[in-house]
Amino acid sequence: MTVAAFAPGRVNLIGDHTDHTGGLAMPMAIQLGTTVTGETTGGDTIELRSGTQEEPAIVSIHVTTGELDGLSPSWARYVAGVVHELRPSAGFCGTVSTTLPIGGGLSSSAALELAVALALGFGGGALELAELCQRAEQIASGVPCGIMDQLASATGKPGHALLMNFTTMAVESVAIPERAAIVVIDSGQQRALADSAYGERRAACEQASMIVGALLHASVDDLYRIDDPVTRRRAHHVMTENIRVRDFAAAIRTGDLAAAGACMTASHRSLRDDFEVSTDVLDALVDRLVATDGVHGARLTGAGFGGCVVALTEPGALTEGWTVVPSGPARRLQA
Ligand code: GLA
Repeated sequence: MTVAAFAPGRVNLIGDHTDHTGGLAMPMAIQLGTTVTGETTGGDTIELRSGTQEEPAIVSIHVTTGELDGLSPSWARYVAGVVHELRPSAGFCGTVSTTLPIGGGLSSSAALELAVALALGFGGGALELAELCQRAEQIASGVPCGIMDQLASATGKPGHALLMNFTTMAVESVAIPERAAIVVIDSGQQRALADSAYGERRAACEQASMIVGALLHASVDDLYRIDDPVTRRRAHHVMTENIRVRDFAAAIRTGDLAAAGACMTASHRSLRDDFEVSTDVLDALVDRLVATDGVHGARLTGAGFGGCVVALTEPGALTEGWTVVPSGPARRLQA
């Protein structure tokens, strides 16, 4: 029997480097995504061919974390991560196709993980799916990433962004006003250093919360108790970013796009100055976009160090990039 599953990519409108600290973010699933189609086999390997990658991913259903490290091609590691966490009881042979730019900051790896998990028969709820795929991503990439990307792909809602609280794991949908256009522009800068720097930033946040408690509930005054100036700046970003997420959600709810855009641009400055995950290329792109008529705000989106910028604009204000629309969740398709 042929099965097919689709999982969307995501763009994060605001709230970066908050998920791994139990904070707030507001991503949305987008119309671009990844589809896995195939059939269960009597064997014990998962074999996937991709339209965009030369070599297939061939993974034993008994794959161990030790084997996963050396696996090639590199995209096979994400498949193996899912297989390791899901432990399907039978083999599978199929194809992968995607409309997402690979490694471009729109969570192509999360989309691949969710589509593979659903095609291989995952049968639980959205949070469980996101958790399984987050573990898969962590063992595949070696990066201690948060759950935002996988949760956005699992809980997408047409016409809505997703206000996430990573302490309670609550996801609230917030309607995006019709006259708001969301445009993603690829900076053209390959994300470099992102892996090692991600772990370092996450460790600094953990250090800060050992001193002041949960950053979601900390105040600016609490931050004075952090002696190390770098750790204090990292915590300052997270603390103020959580406030910006709330302000952004409130502005979107009342249709105040200028205020929402201002939150996004302030978020970029904080990621640049306090969290130090921006680059000159991303800064120049954001500056150019916010100086353009009809652009309410812009910021880097995702982990930083290259990748994409997201802008909130009047429809038609920008003629570059991808116009993305808030879309539905990862799902099995009628094959
Ligand atoms: C990457 C991670 C996410 C999140 C963002 C930054 O996309 O996978 O969990 O931490 O970076 O917000």
